[in-house]
Amino acid sequence: MGNLILDIKNITKSYGDITALNNFSLSLQKGEVIGLLGPNGAGKTTLISILSGTVKDFSGSVTFKGKNLFSHRTLKNHMGIVPQDMAFYEDLNAIDNLMFWGGLYEIPRSNLKQRAWELLELVELSARAKDPIKKYSGGMKRRLNVAIGLIHKPGLLLLDEPTVGIDVQAKVNILDIIKNVGHQGTSVIFTTHQLAEVEEICSRIAIMDKGAILAQGTLEELIRIVGEKEIVDVQGEFSANQFSEALKAPGDGIEILSVSDNLANLAFANTDKIPAMMERLFKNNIQVSDLKIKSPNLEAVFLKLTGRSLRD
Ligand SMILES: Nc1ncnc2c1ncn2[C@@H]1O[C@H](COP(=O)(O)OP(=O)(O)O)[C@@H](O)[C@H]1O
Ligand SMILES: [Mg+2]
Repeated sequence: MGNLILDIKNITKSYGDITALNNFSLSLQKGEVIGLLGPNGAGKTTLISILSGTVKDFSGSVTFKGKNLFSHRTLKNHMGIVPQDMAFYEDLNAIDNLMFWGGLYEIPRSNLKQRAWELLELVELSARAKDPIKKYSGGMKRRLNVAIGLIHKPGLLLLDEPTVGIDVQAKVNILDIIKNVGHQGTSVIFTTHQLAEVEEICSRIAIMDKGAILAQGTLEELIRIVGEKEIVDVQGEFSANQFSEALKAPGDGIEILSVSDNLANLAFANTDKIPAMMERLFKNNIQVSDLKIKSPNLEAVFLKLTGRSLRD
């Protein structure tokens, strides 16, 4: 594994009774962009915080650039971290903030200034470089976050839900940057609970739930988990129990991927079986209001692996 840059092995982290990470392992090659896809509470932030050194008392190991991350302090200088919320100097402008954060690394001041301007160009903030941060929108702040994470040209960039709660323009810009830094050889781990984002920009996707990775691979590899099936979403007047009862032992190549009140996701080996299913639902007094047939997608994979929707 010549290009292995990060090797996370068997990390377990608990907060009292809660196991936030449960024997979590993940490795990353140079230039790989991994999307860590998981619902709220999956353990994404805990992982990023352990890697960035702000959360301690865990078991397991992390090797970064061939060395133990936690016993080689200078290794941190090769890592860029973009947490969800970042403390800026709100009275300072973007350039001064970048100069401040960049000043924490050993970058000659003249190089630093040039780098700061380049990054503001990259995150599309150069026109606002001299405005104090307190005048920035949420999306602008998040973009500045990303610029700060890149100021020292890290080999590894970690971003925790970088697109949550921001406008579309900022989101597109950030996703573009993530993809591009990957092409330039920087490895990236970014966490998200948005399916579309990982589908768009990742070389590899890891699906995470309850502190562990359930599956990982390229989008195509993951979709094979569902197999050559048709995905059918059924909406109507029913409780989760009622629906499961009605299709108990459905057979005929019908698989319930997930079911909640008023919504069920099914996988069909053959959509010829839809009328038979409708009949069974009807016999059980279940009114169907909407039925959608889709090709297998990442959402179906997620439903199959976790039994629940990302939005739950
Ligand atoms: N400081 C903390 N104290 C107690 N429980 C925590 C703390 N931080 C996170 N948790 C719990 O650990 C689990 C994972 O949380 P987190 O890593 O924030 O997940 P995610 O970022 O995927 O939403 C959740 O159940 C959360 O409630
Ligand atoms: Mg989080």
